[in-house]
Amino acid sequence: MVQKVGVIGAGQMGGGIAHVVAANGMKVILSDVSMDRAEAGYAVIEKNINRQVLKGKITESSAKTALEAITLSDTLASLSDCDLVIEAATENEALKTSIFAELCKTLKPEALVASNTSSISITRLAASTDRPEKFMGVHFMNPVPVMKLVELIRGIVTDDDTFDKFQAFATSLGKEITNSEDFPAFIVNRVLMPMINEAVYTLYEGVGDVQSIDKGMRLGTNHPMGPLELADFIGLDTCLSIMQVLHVGLSDTKYRPCPLLVKYVEAGWFGRKTGKGFYDYSVEPPKPTR
Ligand code: CAA
Repeated sequence: MVQKVGVIGAGQMGGGIAHVVAANGMKVILSDVSMDRAEAGYAVIEKNINRQVLKGKITESSAKTALEAITLSDTLASLSDCDLVIEAATENEALKTSIFAELCKTLKPEALVASNTSSISITRLAASTDRPEKFMGVHFMNPVPVMKLVELIRGIVTDDDTFDKFQAFATSLGKEITNSEDFPAFIVNRVLMPMINEAVYTLYEGVGDVQSIDKGMRLGTNHPMGPLELADFIGLDTCLSIMQVLHVGLSDTKYRPCPLLVKYVEAGWFGRKTGKGFYDYSVEPPKPTR
């Protein structure tokens, strides 16, 4: 039974995962490269848990229990006795493989390992661990406490026992499961990212401005957010790296990242997390930047 879970990366995905795991009765060690980053992630979790209390979704005492179940850390060695570890670091393959190599030096041999990668080959990531049969993709959606879905991706070496245990784990968090084969960007991002990239092309070519594109898709197709607003929410750096994985991995020009998306990322405009992307978040309501 999974009692103690390690989460690597205290950003919006890692923090969200730590939040739901702790809210479902397990202990969590939330680790990042510095205590400052881990503490910043914890502050966001605290805000979101308190929001759930205010909305009457959870009681004050269960909020307190969940917050107390999370321990912060700035080392991977502190995860050594976890039953299951989920990596949710930046979407960069070299970084992820170096984390797995370091983690496996001290992690107990029977522990399961997963990556929350939104696009990178699970089979390749598994090969950077000492336990590829105990490794798979467990892809949460943002915001993790709200979104119902977890996408499960087996690598070619993942064994049945590991798959069954991760399926049981995700279900114990109250999530629905969908299964994807190990192809670039899996199912959700294979469909979603080309739509977002096309929205950026629509802006780049002057077919519409930011507001027209977002309003068109929000009201015209009943999406809760327009594609540019959603891109800012996900992070433009993440959107670009997923498009690059699709472009390289499937060798098809239809996945070419829009040059305007590349420019925004080069400018450091990553969306909400940096305060500016297709919208400027320093003003309320956020103002389109084009
Ligand atoms: N933690 C806890 N609760 C949260 C939350 C968080 N981080 N964010 C929002 N909520 C809750 C709110 O408290 C609210 O609860 P009630 O229904 O009880 O009132 C509810 O969620 C809705 O939030 P808001 O009223 O603040 O705002 P909203 O109605 O505009 O909804 C949204 C916000 C849920 C984010 C909605 O806009 C939405 O669904 N957007 C699309 C999200 C999406 O597509 N996510 C997938 C991205 S793709 C991905 O994640 C994969 C990848 O690899 C890139």
